[in-house]
Amino acid sequence: SPSKATNIVWHHSTVTRAARAHQRGHRSAILWFTGLSGAGKSTLANAVNSALFEQGLACYVLDGDNVRHGLCSDLGFSDADREENIRRIGEVAKLFLDAGVVVLTAFVSPFRADRQRARALVEAGDFLEIHCAAGLEVCEQRDTKGLYAKARAGEIKEFTGISSPYEAPEAPELLVATGEQSLDDSVAQVMAELERRGIIP
Ligand code: PPS
Repeated sequence: SPSKATNIVWHHSTVTRAARAHQRGHRSAILWFTGLSGAGKSTLANAVNSALFEQGLACYVLDGDNVRHGLCSDLGFSDADREENIRRIGEVAKLFLDAGVVVLTAFVSPFRADRQRARALVEAGDFLEIHCAAGLEVCEQRDTKGLYAKARAGEIKEFTGISSPYEAPEAPELLVATGEQSLDDSVAQVMAELERRGIIP
């Protein structure tokens, strides 16, 4: 959507993304993790982040629980607030991309249209949608935060998977069976995909 402000011009940086990639020895990218609450998005994103960091690569995790304490502290879980949440995350991820960082976002991001808008902010190939595909039964069984029980009891309204929809990706760049395989296997799967795509050496 167009900016509300007038008389602003885009300022082009003299340090380009390509120059950063050359200096650092790797491309930047947005790794967009999506999945139900409890599917293991944060766990996987953080583990991949550690693996990237150990290789000396520039990387950073944007996570639902911390972003909602700051940047998005004014937002709840209505459809409109989730849309705005994901819009902001998409814009922030784009800045990280420009800064030469492999940025990992770990948000439920339940709506296809919202993920599509985030994808459309950047060039094809810079955005990898990674579906943490643990089924509802597994997530509800785990119920690490006790939120599914609360949602079933009607104490949380509009809870994803229970009383608010989750629209699974139709063609994610990567599908990770986080409900079935080990964390190590999932990390290896993501790292192999990043290598295959030439994002990391
Ligand atoms: S969204 O839909 O992308 O804007 O959600 P996100 O910012 O990722 O926040 C999801 C985490 O918030 C907790 N939580 C809820 N999730 C879904 N629906 C409702 N109503 C809700 N209320 C609170 C929940 O712990 C999610 O954390 P994760 O890490 O995904 O389990």
